[in-house]
Amino acid sequence: MEPAFPLPRSGPDAFLAAAEPLDEAAAWASLCALAHGGRAAARLRVDPCGTWTSEGGADKGASELLDLYACFLVRRGARPTVFAHLGQSLDGRIATESGESTYITCPANVDHMHRMRALADAVVVGAGTVRHDDPRLTVRRVPGRHPLRVVIDTERRLADHYAVFRDGQAPTLVVCAADRQDRERMGEAEVAPVARRGETIDYEAVVALLAGRGCRRIFVEGGGITVSRFLAQGCLDRLQVAVAPMILGSGRPALQLPPLTALSQALRPPTRIFRMGADVLFDCDMRPSA
Ligand SMILES: NC(=O)c1ccc[n+]([C@@H]2O[C@H](COP(=O)([O-])OP(=O)(O)OC[C@H]3O[C@@H](n4cnc5c(N)ncnc54)[C@H](OP(=O)(O)O)[C@@H]3O)[C@@H](O)[C@H]2O)c1
Repeated sequence: MEPAFPLPRSGPDAFLAAAEPLDEAAAWASLCALAHGGRAAARLRVDPCGTWTSEGGADKGASELLDLYACFLVRRGARPTVFAHLGQSLDGRIATESGESTYITCPANVDHMHRMRALADAVVVGAGTVRHDDPRLTVRRVPGRHPLRVVIDTERRLADHYAVFRDGQAPTLVVCAADRQDRERMGEAEVAPVARRGETIDYEAVVALLAGRGCRRIFVEGGGITVSRFLAQGCLDRLQVAVAPMILGSGRPALQLPPLTALSQALRPPTRIFRMGADVLFDCDMRPSA
């Protein structure tokens, strides 16, 4: 099938000419270029393990960016890479009971989410997030291009007045259960069906649908239920949890998975840790091989 939103080809390795050490702006431009098949002005190499080298060197800001983001350029096989992010309080809440979540994490983490959008070909959110936040899901806080916006609305419960369906700022897809597809468009968005799986939809089918539209990196931005479903169905390659020094004491939970019968069943993924302003970001490798 011809991709509806064609994207240029790129690989994890690239050589780019440069004479001077990379600064933060050049490093970010290089990351975006390598993610989307363009060219940048710096001699940068990212190997298949996500390790970067720059022949001209890199200053502190550039090194920090490359340390965090270079691994997101790496792909293994044809399947898209799927990474998710949740910003939570110390007690594991992503929003208040009423759904308020702007902002639990600090501005540096919000910038980070815009960077993740910019490196991705698609940004995915659940219907609950659209209902509560009416997000635009575009890249505004850093230089970069807007990804395809994807809203998972299994039962097609959302009305069509939300910004993502109306503003025309980026292509938008609504994914619903096949038996709930009652129309082909919702505002300016396209409606696409996928098969059901248990009480929800088949999330690997969502990944396959996006792969068919040329998406190689998929960023799942929330909320907790949507990220949990991707994780429970084994569809996440990386999970990022930003923990803010805040206690809500109640509210919407971050991850919700089936109960364990023994502590030994807990997931203990290999994890990288980054300071992000007042918050701490845990970047977890969720691949079974890890
Ligand atoms: N801190 C963060 O990182 C972060 C990120 C994103 C969002 N949030 C916040 O998290 C909350 C949303 O997350 P979430 O885990 O509750 O849900 P979500 O993952 O965003 O969306 C999925 C859930 O929304 C339900 N849903 C579908 N249509 C709905 C409608 N019209 N009204 C209400 N719910 C609907 C879905 O039910 P069905 O499966 O039956 O359709 C499903 O249970 C919001 O308060 C948002 O502000 C926080």
